[in-house]
Amino acid sequence: MDALEAIFTRRSYGRLTEPAPTDEHLQRILAAGAAAPDHGELRPFRFTLLRGAGLDAFGEVLEEAYFRRCTDSGKAPVPAKAQKERTKLGRAPLVIVVSAVRQPSDKIPWVDQRDAAVAAAENILLAAHALGYGAMWRTGDPCEDEYVKKSLGLAKDDAIVGFLYVGTPHEPKEPKPVELDGLVAEFGS
Ligand SMILES: Cc1cc2nc3c(=O)[nH]c(=O)nc-3n(C[C@H](O)[C@H](O)[C@H](O)COP(=O)(O)O)c2cc1C
Repeated sequence: MDALEAIFTRRSYGRLTEPAPTDEHLQRILAAGAAAPDHGELRPFRFTLLRGAGLDAFGEVLEEAYFRRCTDSGKAPVPAKAQKERTKLGRAPLVIVVSAVRQPSDKIPWVDQRDAAVAAAENILLAAHALGYGAMWRTGDPCEDEYVKKSLGLAKDDAIVGFLYVGTPHEPKEPKPVELDGLVAEFGS
């Protein structure tokens, strides 16, 4: 599959099953992430793999983080929400957490470092798709949560840019129509 075909046929899949990427494919997918444009070549992106027992263990981290957010905001935890946090990673056999670790630099602003990790995440989605897998980028409260960041070995000023769910879709989706209407302008005309 060439690059443009991958871009125009990639879709998000809310539920993914086995097979997860083979080890060889996973290395290609992660290398595609690390090949993203990276201002200053600071390599700020990090990829944390959650699979097998790691998915269950990290589900407990997400549930505990939810309880802590409830305590901090003075709200009573809702059992169904706690359960969702604990189990939601089960929607795919592999989750790649893409984060940006702030690198010291006088020249390269943090926003560029974070954006490099965002570009890495998109590369990962496209590479997974090109190799025949499905994926979905998810964010939400855990991305901003200090307890979650700490559990991943991140500092509070680092960023989680997404939880990328990866596996095999039940059924492939049709490509979506892409409209340029209203998106493009030509300066000076
Ligand atoms: C930065 C980012 C965060 C996203 N977070 C979520 C999310 O938390 N939950 C969700 O259902 N989809 C999330 N998505 C996926 C979009 O919903 C999805 O890409 C969109 O519906 C378009 O569908 P497609 O990917 O099949 O073209 C996210 C996408 C991006 C780029």
